[in-house]
Amino acid sequence: MCGIVGFVGTQPAPGEVARSYFALDVVLEGLRRLEYRGYDSAGVAVVADEQVAFRKKAGKVAMLEAEIEAAPLPDSVLGIGHTRWATHGGPTDANAHPHVVDGGKLALVHNGIIENFSELKSELVAKGHNFVSETDTEVAAALLAEAYRELGDLSAAMRAVCKRFEGTFTLLAVHADVPDRIVAARRDSPLVIGVGEGENFLGSDVSGFIDYTKQAVEMANDNVVTVTAAGYEITDLDGNPAEGKPFTVEWDAQAAKKDGFDSFMDKEIHDQPAAIRDTLLGRFDENGKLTLDELRIDESLLRSVDKIIVIACGTAAYAGQVARYAIEHWCRIPTEVELAHEFRYRDPIVNEKTLVVALSQSGETMDTLMAVRHAREQGAKVIAICNTNGSSIPREADASLYTHAGPEIAVASTKAFLAQITATYLLGLYLAQVRGNMFADEVNAVLAELRQIPEKVQQVIDREDEVKALAENMKDASSVLFLGRHVGFPVALEGALKLKEIAYLHAEGFAAGELKHGPIALVEEGQPVFIIAPSPRGRDSLHSKVVSNIQEVRARGAVTIVIAEEGDTAVNQYANHVIRVPQAPTLMQPLLATVPLQVFACAVATVKGYDVDQPRNLAKSVTVE
Ligand code: G6P
Repeated sequence: MCGIVGFVGTQPAPGEVARSYFALDVVLEGLRRLEYRGYDSAGVAVVADEQVAFRKKAGKVAMLEAEIEAAPLPDSVLGIGHTRWATHGGPTDANAHPHVVDGGKLALVHNGIIENFSELKSELVAKGHNFVSETDTEVAAALLAEAYRELGDLSAAMRAVCKRFEGTFTLLAVHADVPDRIVAARRDSPLVIGVGEGENFLGSDVSGFIDYTKQAVEMANDNVVTVTAAGYEITDLDGNPAEGKPFTVEWDAQAAKKDGFDSFMDKEIHDQPAAIRDTLLGRFDENGKLTLDELRIDESLLRSVDKIIVIACGTAAYAGQVARYAIEHWCRIPTEVELAHEFRYRDPIVNEKTLVVALSQSGETMDTLMAVRHAREQGAKVIAICNTNGSSIPREADASLYTHAGPEIAVASTKAFLAQITATYLLGLYLAQVRGNMFADEVNAVLAELRQIPEKVQQVIDREDEVKALAENMKDASSVLFLGRHVGFPVALEGALKLKEIAYLHAEGFAAGELKHGPIALVEEGQPVFIIAPSPRGRDSLHSKVVSNIQEVRARGAVTIVIAEEGDTAVNQYANHVIRVPQAPTLMQPLLATVPLQVFACAVATVKGYDVDQPRNLAKSVTVE
């Protein structure tokens, strides 16, 4: 929630020709890239001529840009920016960040929630402070200004106020009195430093500065950093020097661009063969044996595991549900999948023999992070499967396995989902190998299937026009149902979620077997129902049961759209439309069957004229509980 960016460059020497870019260029570019984190208002502040100048506006970054064009800001080499997902106070100009206080000299942007803000606000009100917004951020800014007046040092002031804040935050502050620096702090909200030559950056994630540098530094919780053009200095809240953890960004700036596609979602759907291929890369030794070196977890510990709990939210939780079928099948370890926010507050039975697998694209989902902490406190070992290097969840987990899907910008997750399934499969096979549940040739046979998936996903994508035509026909539906069994069930849930998220269409996913226990009452003449048919070459009973389900809804007037593998003719007579996917073993099918559902949702949202990448009310990275 909320994207934050900061830039400090070198002042041009007297007489030097103007720089090719100024703070405003860097900050606005960063905000455009971070807009996926929230987009209901945006703002920037720059420091020039020992003054803070700022603009902020409700609406997307484009609205802010229009505002700046109408009322330009001065050239400056120091600036901060913010794109907001509202928590305290609605998305208005006044509530937008930065919050500027101290007679216009101090500007602050903030991501997160300061939980004790009303107590702090009362304290300041009693001292005569007036507030112009409803935000917790303005309270933080006022408190910081007060501490600065008292201590005369912006970094010391930041440390002092952070000690008083409860909750989660990333804060970036600039002050007209010290126009060469940004002072920033973080607790449980993301912040990375970008290191350039004679210029440095701050961002909620590396996409905030990816155009300028690939050298980045992670910062620990409760650390404060002072960034100038010459360098950066990190301390803890007591002012003791602290270390950051440098890393090189592997993403290419180009990867975070639309590349001629109409939307990021469309592009990311097309990125999926590469996302799976890259996630499989480098996981094998010279003999082709699966080696998850990066896990760095003791094999004896993996052998002692007697229960696995997968925790995640949203699409990642559906990837977890798919993984459960595979892990239980291959490893014979009881596996549960739970929404992270439910796990955290349920008093789950967890001990040192429990392996918790935290799935998160961003690595910053607060619900998942809190569940990770809870699991570790109970003695469980946590493996994080994440897509974002240097993010909080892998940092706090005992071990990590990265998906290599590249930056996912569209709010609705697509390529991260397939990459997560791929990574959980690698983990499951690795566990089975280490624990001796599968012979090497069995593991290799599954890996060989997995290696064919990118090519098969490409074949599904190549037929996207058929699905798009279907979307055009169905754009006026008021509700769409999705049915699946076994691994097809989470696929059905994901298909429905995609449609809700971006096409604002009422959609529900059901386990096909549950149909007769209630959902079938929803079916009336013309009701579109997607059915994910399992492979007839798998367990026959599974396939025939689903074929019966298709008949049952069809008999009640449903328009049936069946996703079936090539050669499965049994579905033809009951399907109004058949979407074909290449043949694959049952456990591989989610990697194929999900793709048409993503294309469908994207196409319906596009036909309806919605903003596919930035659906209303949502944000990509939910960094508040
Ligand atoms: C939000 C996003 C979803 C995403 C979920 C989990 O709700 O809108 O697309 O699946 O968060 O995100 P994560 O980064 O933890 O995978």
